[in-house]
Amino acid sequence: MTDHTTDRLVSPMSSDDDFQENSLRPHRLDDYIGQEKVKGNLQILLEAAKLRGEALDHVLLYGPPGLGKTSLSLIISAEMGVSIRMTSGPAIEHAGDLASILTALEERDVLFIDEIHRLSRVVEERLYSAMEDFALDLIIGKGPSARNVRLPLKPFTVVAATTRVGALTAPLRDRFGAIYRLDYYDDAALQQILRRSARILRVEMENDGCVEIARRARGTPRIANRLLRRVRDYAQVRADGIITRDVARLALTALEVDERGLDTSDRTILRTIIEKFDGGPVGVETLAASTSEEVETVEDVYEPYLLQLGFLARTPRGRIATRLAYEHLGIPYRGGPETPGLWDTPTV
Ligand SMILES: Nc1ncnc2c1ncn2[C@@H]1O[C@H](COP(=O)(O)OP(=O)(O)OP(=O)(O)O)[C@@H](O)[C@H]1O
Ligand SMILES: [Mg+2]
Repeated sequence: MTDHTTDRLVSPMSSDDDFQENSLRPHRLDDYIGQEKVKGNLQILLEAAKLRGEALDHVLLYGPPGLGKTSLSLIISAEMGVSIRMTSGPAIEHAGDLASILTALEERDVLFIDEIHRLSRVVEERLYSAMEDFALDLIIGKGPSARNVRLPLKPFTVVAATTRVGALTAPLRDRFGAIYRLDYYDDAALQQILRRSARILRVEMENDGCVEIARRARGTPRIANRLLRRVRDYAQVRADGIITRDVARLALTALEVDERGLDTSDRTILRTIIEKFDGGPVGVETLAASTSEEVETVEDVYEPYLLQLGFLARTPRGRIATRLAYEHLGIPYRGGPETPGLWDTPTV
């Protein structure tokens, strides 16, 4: 991914600017705001495992970046009262790396594997028996004298995270007893997260200021916290340090983040469809070329949120800007498809 997309203030990906993220991380399930369905199910899973004194079932967490997968994995180990070893798919390069990680785990420990869709096939296949039978199959020696050895492991829990669950193989997915999807947060949950973060950062924030920031956070706690830090800077430098509605609005306008959390790149995409292609449909390749972006960047970085807002729709003949997009940009709507059903409903 190109740098300017991860540098965006409203990028859901983690950036250097988020080094304070750890201090804002919730540590217990009770501090973890929103995602009620996931929390409810997880609570039962945790209590049952604790009651039986067993290792927790393997858990797979998936969803867009910045919604709290890493945070939840840390919470799981804290609630179980066990240690957590953190690694990621691309970091486990060889079967030997996996073996040394697994043999070092204590009973019931959590092994967190971020970006699990990026595990190599060889490592993935080794992981199957480790997860299922708590055993590691090793080949000792070379040539005719080589033999298979089965090394028992202490029962442990894999908590895995991915932004692309579709990229997992079926056998790997089947090894997880619990699979939870994290969703975008609503405004009320984002406001609660912001109030908690403001307390930790010791910044005074009025309710109206909180509402302004939450509305622009694109349903994503990481973005909410990042906007909060930037608004706090503004409040301290340009005002008396208190985040009021006006301070939040002025700060976010100065940062070119609009009412719905769109930045200039998002608006350029929408304007291009409307002004150069009459509202669409326009193919994604053409759209990417006209905005000097990569096709993948348009699809993975810009489109998800625009689709989520209903500003953009995917049709068999390309992308169209919806009436909502025109209204948001203050451009008079010149009509569109009159016949319902002629177009696909927006898919995310
Ligand atoms: N439910 C929540 N309650 C409070 N804060 C949260 C919650 N979820 C996430 N956060 C905040 O958002 C930040 C980002 O969350 P986290 O790193 O867990 O996301 P992630 O899903 O692992 O992202 P990525 O896909 O980039 O790895 C955390 O530092 C935390 O402060
Ligand atoms: Mg993470």
